Order: sequence, then C-alpha cells, then structure tokens
Amino acid sequence: MQEFEFCCPTEIVFGRGAESKVADKIRKYGGSRVYIVYGGGSVVKNGLLARVERILTAGGLAFEVLGGVQPNPRLNLAREGVREALLFGANIILAVGGGSVIDTAKAIAHGAANEGTDIWDFWDGKAKVEKSLPVGTVLTIPAAGSESSDSAVLTNEETGKKAGLSTPFNRPAFSILNPELAFTLPKEQIAYGASDIIMHTLERYFTPVDGNHFTDLIAEALIRNVMQQTKALMVSRKNYDAMSELMWCSTVSHNGVTGLGRMKDFAAHKLGHELSGKFDVPHGASLTTVWGSWARYVYGDKPERFAYFAEQVFGVNSGTTEERARAGIRNMEEFFHEIGMPLCFTELGIGVQKETMIEYLANMCTAGGTKTVATFHPLDKQTVMEIYRMANH
Ligand code: NZQ
Ligand code: ZN
Repeated sequence: MQEFEFCCPTEIVFGRGAESKVADKIRKYGGSRVYIVYGGGSVVKNGLLARVERILTAGGLAFEVLGGVQPNPRLNLAREGVREALLFGANIILAVGGGSVIDTAKAIAHGAANEGTDIWDFWDGKAKVEKSLPVGTVLTIPAAGSESSDSAVLTNEETGKKAGLSTPFNRPAFSILNPELAFTLPKEQIAYGASDIIMHTLERYFTPVDGNHFTDLIAEALIRNVMQQTKALMVSRKNYDAMSELMWCSTVSHNGVTGLGRMKDFAAHKLGHELSGKFDVPHGASLTTVWGSWARYVYGDKPERFAYFAEQVFGVNSGTTEERARAGIRNMEEFFHEIGMPLCFTELGIGVQKETMIEYLANMCTAGGTKTVATFHPLDKQTVMEIYRMANH
C-alpha cells in the first residue's frame, strides 16, 4: 500500500426529507447570503427549488438564484455566476442539482473568493486555488460524485476543451442526499449515472500499484452493488432502497475511498472528456464508449489483474488467465449494454468518425502529443488514437 493522506470533510445529510435541514447547514458553515445554482429546469418542474427557497426564507437567509446550467457545464455561465455572486455579496454557494450544477457552483465559489482572477486560470493551471467560498449541495442525481469529490469539470466553449480541476477546495462543506429527489430521473440518466459511478471505481482499480486488499474489497463490493441496484431501478425508478444504495455509492465511489493507497488511472475519463467536449455527449455514455477498447488494449500489461477482477466481480473462475481477463471485460460491457449504454461511436450517436477527427481528439487529449495520460498504461497520442479507432464503429 502506498502512503496517502485522506481528508474528506464534507458533511453528509442522508435520507427522506433531508433538504429540510438546508438552512441549518448553511448557517453552520457561516452562510447568510446564499447564491443558489441550478440546471435546465428539472428542479423547477418537480418543485424542489421552490421548496429550498421557502426553507431559506423561513430560516431568514437572503438568496439569489442562477439557473441554466447545462450538462457538460460551460465556463461562461460560471463566469456570469462569479460576477453576480460578487455583486450580491454571497458568502456561500448552494448547488441544487447534479454534477454539472455542483461543478458550476464550485467554480463560482473559487471565482467569488478570488476577485480579479479568471476562473479558467485555475483549470488550465495558470493559477492555484488558495481560498474559496463554502459550497453546499442538494443532490438530485446519483452519478458524478461531485457532492464530496475534490474535483470539478468545466467545458471552455471557446476552445472545446473539457477539463477537470482537482483541489481540496473542491470538497463541499455539506451535501444533502435525499434519494427521493432522484425519483424524477429518466431511466437513461440513471444508467449514465450508474456507469459513471462504476467507472470512478474502475479507474482506481486498474493501476500500477498492487497489494491493497482492503481497497480492492471496497471497490469490488461497490461495483457489484451498483450493478444490482441499477438493475432494480431499471424495473422501478421509485425504488427507495435501490436509489439509496446508488446514491451512497455515487458519493463513496469518487470521494477517494475506493482508491486509497494507490495512484489513479482515469484513462477512460480523459478520452471520454474529449468526446463530450467535441460532441456534447453525456459524461457516463462517453466513458462506456471507450472503456472496453481501452481495457482490451491494455489488459495484456497485467492480465492477472483483469482475471482477478473477473473473478471477484463476476465470479469467473475457469479458463486461462487470458480467457478470464477477457471474460471480465466482456461481462462489464454486457452489463453496460443491458442498461442501454453505448460501447462504440455509433451507439454513442456520433457515427463513424474520419481519421482526422480521431487525430483531433487525440491531440486534445495529449496536448498535441506533448504528454501522456493515465498510469496503468501511460497513453501517448498514438495509443490514444488506437483506442479511439477500436471504438470507432
Ligand atoms: O438540468 P436539469 O434540468 O436539472 O436536468 C438534469 C440534466 O439534464 C437531469 N437531472 C438531474 N437531476 C434530475 C434530473 N432530471 C430529472 N430529475 C432529477 N432529479 O439530468 C441531466 C444530467 O445532469 P448532470 O448534472 O449533467 O449529471 P451528472 O451528475 O451526471 O453530472 C455530469 C457532469 O459532472 C462531471 C461530468 O464530466 C459532467 O460534466 N463530472 C464531475 C465530477 C466531479 N466534479 O467530481 C467527476 C465525474 O467524473 C464527472 O466528470
Ligand atoms: Zn466520471
């Protein structure tokens, strides 16, 4: 096990009606002027936003609201949020929504605490986040894990670059997780979310570091549980127990616990972000589109690790190491297919791409071929192109 430091300070408030505590939690973290961020309207339609506003009013808290965050959230709306939050004198940012809304709230928090610094400077490494405003979240979809993660992802619409920023300042102060708030999700969003949750754990499972048994067990249990609960939710979206499991797995999958003691890989995320940056496809779908191709390309580096995964997660215990390794990849893909996820470009809905596009995506991913991405098998531009080609059908 490698040495590590782990601090996830986000307070989790879980259960039915948990949002009723939002005003108390805001005050607890020093908030009095609340800048609320939400998405394309689901929380208006299902009444959650109005309920949160009533709770804040009853709690004597001043607030202002910014809506319109899109999936694959855009930089310019976050910049607008920074300007408005500063004008309003916000001292806490409250996200009411999913990963896109939460990531926008995190960006606004950084911008509002660092007046004069363009927030994109934090994302492209020109500036470092040294202070921020507290962020609270009322989560509406189990998926990205942003409700307690140390990362935030934005798309710069001028360059088409979708990029993540990791900093301890991205950890929300508190997150409210009421599984019932996810009952209005369409099935495909549940599937995208479940795939993202699994992927956050897979991206920490296949790494160059071995011998980390407890972390392995957590990861394997989490993946098995997410598969089981997602299948139940595909039958009934309002299954409270299954949604509870999925929501908690969403949080645990990306707060660091599933990868402690080893480095992360995140190859599928890097390749997937380029697909979302270019084609605006849902995050979870971008990941399943490339994962199988990535796995088939790299498993030969450590087939025994893939065979072990197959046994622990899918109970595959016969055949050669190679056969078991391939069976594990196939089983994972079969699950993705079962819940309607894409495994290649055509299933993703972008069609077969020309070689020029493959090269464009690989250039975006590797900064024009000047760097490699991932750790299990560091991927240079040519390798990234090859993996995209394998998914290009
Ligand atoms: O915008 P509204 O109208 O609210 O609709 C959203 C959106 O269309 C809808 N939705 C959410 N909750 C709902 C609902 N519809 C009905 N009922 C509800 N209760 O779902 C759609 C997707 O929302 P979004 O916030 O985009 O989903 P998700 O949570 O999957 O977030 C995806 C974003 O997070 C980033 C992704 O790259 C992507 O940009 N990620 C963030 C991470 C992080 N900060 O740690 C890690 C992840 O790897 C990921 O990269
Ligand atoms: Zn993800």
